[in-house]
Amino acid sequence: MKKIKAAITAVGGWLPETVLSNAELEKMVDTTDDWIVSRTGIKERRIMVGKDRGTSEIGINAVKQILDKKGIDPLDIDLLIVGTVTPDYLFPSTSNLICDKLGMKNAWGFDLTAACSGFLFALSTATQFIESGRYKKVIVVGADKMSSIIDYSDRATCVIFGDGGGAVLLEPTEEDFGVMDFIMHADGSGGQFLNMKGGGSVNPPSHETVDKKMHYVFQEGQAVFKNAVVNMAEVSAAIMEKNSLKAEDISWLVPHQANKRIVDATAKRMGLGQEKVMMNIQRYGNTTAGTIPLLLWDYEKQLKKGDNLILSAFGGGFTWGSIYLRWAYNT
Ligand code: UT7
Repeated sequence: MKKIKAAITAVGGWLPETVLSNAELEKMVDTTDDWIVSRTGIKERRIMVGKDRGTSEIGINAVKQILDKKGIDPLDIDLLIVGTVTPDYLFPSTSNLICDKLGMKNAWGFDLTAACSGFLFALSTATQFIESGRYKKVIVVGADKMSSIIDYSDRATCVIFGDGGGAVLLEPTEEDFGVMDFIMHADGSGGQFLNMKGGGSVNPPSHETVDKKMHYVFQEGQAVFKNAVVNMAEVSAAIMEKNSLKAEDISWLVPHQANKRIVDATAKRMGLGQEKVMMNIQRYGNTTAGTIPLLLWDYEKQLKKGDNLILSAFGGGFTWGSIYLRWAYNT
């Protein structure tokens, strides 16, 4: 019997309507458009404005696109995994909320926390459910409403992050397409450099946690940057080597959009020119678990059946990894 592979057969994406430009941030904190563009590559990002809105809204819109596009009955979805660090609530899970809203009554699912590597961790997890032969339709969402945990008076973080995300449908195939391999890593000793200290069981919400701004992202940018540059490049080179892939075999690098300089270093280590690197950081900033599905969504029309893609990410935790994927369809 041929081995079952997990192929991406559809992509959806969604961004909130409000644009937060560098010019607007210049009025909010001591920064400049020039600094943000030269240090990160970001020109604008989207943010979700208004009450009673959460990450599930991003997931609902992205998943609905997939269901509509493919004409799939919501009752046929088996499993929904959501990579996010900004769930609507600690519980119920964002997965539960999305399934309920879209009538996916036969699906179960869960949220998975791996910060900027959330989508890759969720995609490699979902792959196992397809490869086992047990499930036929699994959806993976990567989405974050980062504006809900960003301090808009902290210039070190507020210029970087944005809201948004996307989703992919995974289905089984016996052909040579889909997730070919993955390498995932985690190193908890890096947690001190990028985290949110309040709101969990150690520091439950209180006046004190609010006063000390513990419900916002804390980042030691340079420490994260140094680790990201080395590890994202290393893991991307490692998956190429493991699968005997040369630069000319790779059609696209799909890199987490944290900082253009990190992406450039990764592409250089892989020997890839800019023309093979997906980029949209200039428009959306860093949407944490949302960046990679948003890239696939933006570039879907340019992808051809048989293209070799390397997906790579590095983020809080620390968490990092890469996935080697062979694209399964022409749009
Ligand atoms: O996606 C999850 C993982 N996260 C990442 O991968 C992020 C990794 N880190 C980074 O991308 C970069 O470290 C940042 C973009 C966050 C910061 O860039 P940097 O080149 O590392 O800047 P820095 O922190 O070394 O700061 C350089 C200078 C400092 O001023 P002095 O001390 O040299 O006078 C900062 O205070 O830039 C200052 N600075 C700013 N200036 C204008 C920091 N933030 C800003 C700002 N506008 N927004």
